[in-house]
Amino acid sequence: MSTTLSAIEERFEELSAKGLAVAVSRAVRDGALPPGAKLPPIRVLATQLGLSPTTVSAGWALLARSGAIHTDGRRGTTVADLRDPAPGRYRRALERQLDFALDLSTGIPDPALLPNLGPALSELTTAGLPGSYLDDPVLPGLLDVLKAQWPYPAEELMVVDGAMDALDLVSRSMLRFGDRVVVEHPCFPPLLDLLESIGVEVLGVPVDDTGLRPEPLTTALGGLGSHISAVFLQPRAQNPTGASMTGQRAQDLAPILAQAGMPVVEDDSAGAVAATPPISLGEWIPDQVIHIRSFSKSHGPDLRLAAMGGPSNLLREIIHRRELGQGWSSRVLQRVLLSLLTDPDAVADVDRARDEYTRRRVALVSALTSRGVEVASGDGLNLWVPVHDESAAIVRLASQGVGVTPGTPFEVLPGGGGHVRVTVGLVADGYEELAQTLATAANTSPWGLRAR
Ligand SMILES: Cc1ncc(COP(=O)(O)O)c(C=O)c1O
Repeated sequence: MSTTLSAIEERFEELSAKGLAVAVSRAVRDGALPPGAKLPPIRVLATQLGLSPTTVSAGWALLARSGAIHTDGRRGTTVADLRDPAPGRYRRALERQLDFALDLSTGIPDPALLPNLGPALSELTTAGLPGSYLDDPVLPGLLDVLKAQWPYPAEELMVVDGAMDALDLVSRSMLRFGDRVVVEHPCFPPLLDLLESIGVEVLGVPVDDTGLRPEPLTTALGGLGSHISAVFLQPRAQNPTGASMTGQRAQDLAPILAQAGMPVVEDDSAGAVAATPPISLGEWIPDQVIHIRSFSKSHGPDLRLAAMGGPSNLLREIIHRRELGQGWSSRVLQRVLLSLLTDPDAVADVDRARDEYTRRRVALVSALTSRGVEVASGDGLNLWVPVHDESAAIVRLASQGVGVTPGTPFEVLPGGGGHVRVTVGLVADGYEELAQTLATAANTSPWGLRAR
C-alpha cells in the first residue's frame, strides 16, 4: 500500500478532487499503478494528502465515472484494466447473435400490441403548444391524469425521458461515490451498470414471488456499519422474475424501511401492461418514496416518457438541476401521451395488450410446467426460466434459432448461472413447440451439450 500511496503522492500537484484524479490517472498511465492495484482507503489517503475525506471521495467519483477505477465492497477500490474493459452487464446481457429466427432476448413490447398513434398525431397542432422556456415542465392536463392514476398522493410529479432517465437523474442527484445501496437480486442490469458508473456499492436482497424479502432486507439495512443510502426495487412485474409486491408484503416492508429512513426508489417499468394493479410503498411511507412509471412497455419505447413522483425535498433538487440541462421532456410528446391516456380507443388498445400479454405468459408457463420446468407465472413481458447450465442452454437455443438473455448479468448475489430470461411477451403462438425447445435446453448439460 505504501508504494501505491507514494505513486499518487509523487504526482499530486493540486489540492482538490480533480488534482487527486489527475495524480491517479498519471500513475496509471505511467504504469506505477497497474490494473488491479488496490487503492488506499479514503481516510488513509485523506490524512496522507491533507485532503478532507469528502474531497477524496469526489476524486474517486471522477475516476469511477471515467471508468479508471472500480469499487467493490469486499475488494475495496481498484485500478480498472483499461486494456481489456469488462463489458457492462447491460451490454453483456444484450450481446447476442442478431439473426435469430425467434429473438426472445430483447425485453421489448410487441409492436403489434402498442396503441395506434395515428389519431394522437393527427390531433397535434401547433396551436396551444407552450412555446416558452418558462412554461410548466409538465403539461397541466397530463399532470391531472397522472395524479388521478398515481398509486398514492405524491407531493411532486415530473415527466422524464423514460424510466432509465429517471433512475439516472435520481441516482446522480442522491448518491455519491462509495455510497451503498440495496438492490433486488436478481436485478435489472442497466441499473447495476448505472450504480457502478457512479461508484456506488450494491447489496443484493433476494426477491420472492411477492417482492423483496423482509428478513434479508432487515439484515442488509441493520448490518454492522451498513449505512444504506437508498433502496431500489420494482413494485410489479419485476424484470426478470415477474414478481409483484402484494399489499401484505408492502405492509411488512414499510416499517423496516421507515425505521432505516433512506429514500426508496420504485421502478414500475411495465406500467399499464402489468396485470397486477399499481402498488407503491408511497401509500405507507410517502416521505421516502420516489415512484417511477414508464410508458415504454404500454405506449411504446420510442415515446421515451416516464413519470416520477415523490416528496418535494427529493424531487425539487432534480427539477432544478434539470433546468440547467434539458429542462423538460418534449411537450409535443407529452401531448401525444395525454391523448393516448385519455382517448377511449387508445385506452382499449392498452387494455387488450395487457390481457394478451397475460394470455401469452399463462400459455407458455403451462406448456413449460407440463414438461417439468417450474416457472413462476408472474407478470410483465418476461419469464425467468431455471436452467441446468446457462451457457449450455443458450448455445443449444441459439443453434435452434431461439435467442434468450443469459441470467448472470441480472445476478447480484453469488451462485448464479441457473437462469435465462425469456421475453414471452413477443410469443404470439406455438407455445407447445417453444416449451419443448426451452425444456430441452433447460435440461442440457455442459458436457457435449447433451440433454439430460
Ligand atoms: C426494470 C426496468 N427499468 C427500466 C427500464 C427502461 O425503461 P424506459 O424505456 O422507460 O427507460 C426497463 C426496460 O426494459 C426495465 O425493464
